[in-house]
Amino acid sequence: MQPSLPADAGHVEVPACDTPPAAEVAADGVAPEVAPADPPVYDPAGFWESRLRHHFDMIGVGYSRLGLPFNLALYRQRLVVIGRTIRRFRIKVAGADLIELGPGTGYFIDHWKHLGIGSLVGLDITAVVTERLTEKYPEYRFFEADASERWPLPDASADIVTAFDILFHITDDERFAAAIREAGRVTRPGGLLLVSDLFLHGQPFRGFHQASRTLADYQACLAEAGFEVLGRMPIFVTMHPALDLPPGPLSRLANDWWSRTEQRLMDEPKRGYRLGRVLGWIDRIVTKVCWGGPSTELLIARRRTG
Ligand SMILES: C[S@@+](CC[C@H](N)C(=O)[O-])C[C@H]1O[C@@H](n2cnc3c(N)ncnc32)[C@H](O)[C@@H]1O
Repeated sequence: MQPSLPADAGHVEVPACDTPPAAEVAADGVAPEVAPADPPVYDPAGFWESRLRHHFDMIGVGYSRLGLPFNLALYRQRLVVIGRTIRRFRIKVAGADLIELGPGTGYFIDHWKHLGIGSLVGLDITAVVTERLTEKYPEYRFFEADASERWPLPDASADIVTAFDILFHITDDERFAAAIREAGRVTRPGGLLLVSDLFLHGQPFRGFHQASRTLADYQACLAEAGFEVLGRMPIFVTMHPALDLPPGPLSRLANDWWSRTEQRLMDEPKRGYRLGRVLGWIDRIVTKVCWGGPSTELLIARRRTG
């Protein structure tokens, strides 16, 4: 059986304030006759604004239940794979015009800066991200914008567009396709789109604020937007739920491993220092020798020139 999507898979859980109150039960144990509450509706701007105003850190943008130390290790591993991808695909970052979708706390911006990026534009659905990153990086531009609507940027104005842990938060399929079309519009011919997601081979998952789509869904939308897929680089193997394994003993083993690891971290987040270091080294080595993986990957697509 395909493991089920954890509430926090990849990223964040629904804060308590987003959960409708359960119907109150009277003293005699009988629920009063009230109409059942409507299921909560995901409002991306409100959800992220509230979440990031409370936690403008790795808890806000990351896998919150695992605690800060382990999230730090997850981000270190993401950075390792980004560096490896740049080398393997010979991506010219120095002097490039880069757009970062959903930059969150701006974790990757210093890295781009260090590599000599020419210009950087961040598009985030929240005011808090736009305000804080504008203050921290006055040399770059940040817009409060929904990536699934028209971007406030001219055609063919970027060499690189990144979408790290954001496209699966666009739960509406039409809007998801529209975001990829916008990436196609603003990326110069020959330019690159880097996306992190699960790229599932089995069934897609749908949660409250995320929709993990299949590799085939991505391939169709990317082709329609004028991109060709160059490859995928695995990011996590042991450090994240292995949701993209075919049903069978390996999938059960991985699921069991992840449940225990997650529980240990939830019980004592400080374990994340040691566990993050050990698993970080394992994933660093294993992802180097694998082409494709059981969990989050980085997809590299190139804007066609013709
Ligand atoms: C899980 S966080 C990832 C942040 C950052 N990319 C990282 O990897 O640390 C998702 C980010 O995307 C932003 N976001 C979510 N939906 C968006 C949308 N439709 N348009 C633009 N930004 C969005 C959120 O505000 C948040 O900053």
